[in-house]
Amino acid sequence: MAAQPANNPVAYLNGLYLPLEEARISPLDRGFLFADGVYEVIPCYNGRPFRLKQHIERLIRSLDAILLPSPHTETEWTDLLNGLVQRNGGGHQSLYVQVTRGAPTLRDHRFPDHGPATVFALSQTLEDPESRLLDAETGIRAMTCADTRWSHCDIKSVALLANVLLRHEARQAGCDEAILIRDGHVTEGATSNIFVVQKGELLTPPLGPHILDGITRDLVIELAQQYEIPVREAPIAETQLAQADEIWISSSTRGARPVVLLDGQPVGDGRPGALWRTMAEHYAAFRQALMQ
Ligand code: PDD
Repeated sequence: MAAQPANNPVAYLNGLYLPLEEARISPLDRGFLFADGVYEVIPCYNGRPFRLKQHIERLIRSLDAILLPSPHTETEWTDLLNGLVQRNGGGHQSLYVQVTRGAPTLRDHRFPDHGPATVFALSQTLEDPESRLLDAETGIRAMTCADTRWSHCDIKSVALLANVLLRHEARQAGCDEAILIRDGHVTEGATSNIFVVQKGELLTPPLGPHILDGITRDLVIELAQQYEIPVREAPIAETQLAQADEIWISSSTRGARPVVLLDGQPVGDGRPGALWRTMAEHYAAFRQALMQ
């Protein structure tokens, strides 16, 4: 199959690979009308989806949580997504896959009695991970915001309006990410999980209904355990942020990134911290090993 140039990407829609610009979804699709669907974002390096199994397992968990039977088995999801990566020419890509409760003939809150789910996937170019590592040397700016989202943030739902507004608020304030606070404690970022380094220990809020079980979060914990970096899942009070030696965000498209400025105040000495540097090296080595 010929590789597609980045400006003419191939998408997947309900069983067909087709040029993205030709993909059409009904305005009655429940994803459009009700945000009644779930999604995944999966990074691919050198044409290989990274932690694909974990992403597919989480997709199926999200589908279960919204009572939508998975339209594909794990093997079918794997083939479908690998097929999309190949048709887009391999290399570094960010895959997006969305499943909604389909497009019945009427707008009705009630679940449709039957009818297929809508499955849509697309690929976007992902920058070279090594250049991202260098960019990250400068660190990012963040601000704290009240977590105004619902109580099922563990579902990777396409209902992202609160996240979009929070990210916009952060951007308006010259920040790259919003760190969300609920009942005096950190939940996660508007588009990422949060880690804090305090007295040499890496902390991240425990999983629960207010947090997405991030695939990158999981890998960071796994790497910390492997390299004997003290790591603990524990509630993080908002007040702990001001005393943190380091703060990181983590997500599939950004890996682990250091926050150097929080609410206008430097985090630690205002530069990416030593533990982040160590983790970034382990992370890059882990990724490199899979990319061979
Ligand atoms: N979002 N928490 C939220 C609210 C997120 O949106 C994301 C990632 C994460 C990190 O999860 P992971 O490590 O599995 O990517 C945590 C993706 C990248 C997005 O919506 O584009």
